[in-house]
Amino acid sequence: MTDQEYMLRAIQLAKKGEGWTNPNPMVGAVIVKDGKIIGEGYHKKYGELHAERNAIASLTESAEGAVIYVTLEPCCHHGKTPPCTEAIIEQKIRKVVIGSRDPNPKVAGKGVQMLREAGVTVVEDFMREECDQLNPVFFHYITTKTPYVVMKYAMTLDGKIATKTGASKWITGESARKEVQHMRHQYMGIMAGIGTVLADDPMLNVRVEGWKSPVRIVCDSKLRIPPGSQIVKSAEKYRTIVAYAEQKNAEEKIKILHTMGVETIYCPDEKNQIDLKKLMADLGNRGIDSILLEGGGTLNDSALRAGIVKEVQAFVAPKLFGGVAGKTPVEGIGVELPSEAVELKYTDICQIGEDIRIKCQVCDKKQEESCLQES
Ligand SMILES: NC(=O)c1ccc[n+]([C@@H]2O[C@H](COP(=O)([O-])OP(=O)(O)OC[C@H]3O[C@@H](n4cnc5c(N)ncnc54)[C@H](OP(=O)(O)O)[C@@H]3O)[C@@H](O)[C@H]2O)c1
Repeated sequence: MTDQEYMLRAIQLAKKGEGWTNPNPMVGAVIVKDGKIIGEGYHKKYGELHAERNAIASLTESAEGAVIYVTLEPCCHHGKTPPCTEAIIEQKIRKVVIGSRDPNPKVAGKGVQMLREAGVTVVEDFMREECDQLNPVFFHYITTKTPYVVMKYAMTLDGKIATKTGASKWITGESARKEVQHMRHQYMGIMAGIGTVLADDPMLNVRVEGWKSPVRIVCDSKLRIPPGSQIVKSAEKYRTIVAYAEQKNAEEKIKILHTMGVETIYCPDEKNQIDLKKLMADLGNRGIDSILLEGGGTLNDSALRAGIVKEVQAFVAPKLFGGVAGKTPVEGIGVELPSEAVELKYTDICQIGEDIRIKCQVCDKKQEESCLQES
């Protein structure tokens, strides 16, 4: 096997931790000696051993003189687990091949330095682009302490996310909906506006065995959420946060929601709606590193204007709803000139069942500025 193949194996292993490691990164490691893999591992779950230590625990022979391929720079600080650099040095591993650099200020090059000082050969940036693709969420969260927000919607080919009556079940087919279930497992939080909650009475959970449900966040300025809604009724089972903005007459409703297991965050802006940037900072402080934003269009528009969206994923169904009354993915008043558009960059387009998924990175200036301010 080649160096590339060993690193690809480490990437493959890292992906097994998807959805379980947050807010930690996904990391994989492969230990090779005399042309043979003698140990491999990945970071399985937040708080548990890191990839390098799991790979060492699986060793079939001594790692003295071996090479370790690891998708992210090994840590060198005492966190929930002891530093991986120590374990590598103790095992007398000869060479460390690293994919991504770790922007965590507690690591950021110090891991590499520690290894080199101990006489270990270090190769950096090996297949860095492929390794970096594992952890956009971690890279964003560790540097900004705010969640990585992915705006996701399902629309018809004429750009409608609901019919003129507000009905949206279902626009896409079963395979696309299964993929959305996977995204809900992948990200730590899911956020919707009260408009969607009132229209659809959704659960916003994961219904696939073996995957986890995200923390549900509802933007609901006036606390209109019905105590009988599916979200509130299931709050004891799935963590639920309602962000609100008006305190007048809210006491009684808040009491009811708290009794039913719902957490509340008071987060007003100057228009008495939710201040989304402040909400992101608050959720970040609560350890939520990523959010799947499932609209609707009114909240999506505010999120884009607030500059909190990093990625857009559109599922496009081969259907047409027609008319002007149907909801669109981004409502609000729109821009006046094409030059004022939110600029996106396609990163992936694929067919899922009968539908198409388009992934985009938001490369709008406003979103970048917002990010810089956060960091
Ligand atoms: N196909 C899809 O992918 C998809 C996904 C989601 C929804 N939908 C459809 O979309 C429709 C609902 O969309 P919608 O646009 O009416 O409602 P929405 O975006 O879900 O919710 C909008 C409401 O959220 C509240 N809100 C609180 N803070 C806000 C802020 N900072 N910015 C904006 N809104 C804020 C406002 O009500 P308050 O002022 O009372 O708080 C606002 O009216 C439904 O028909 C649903 O089926 C489709």
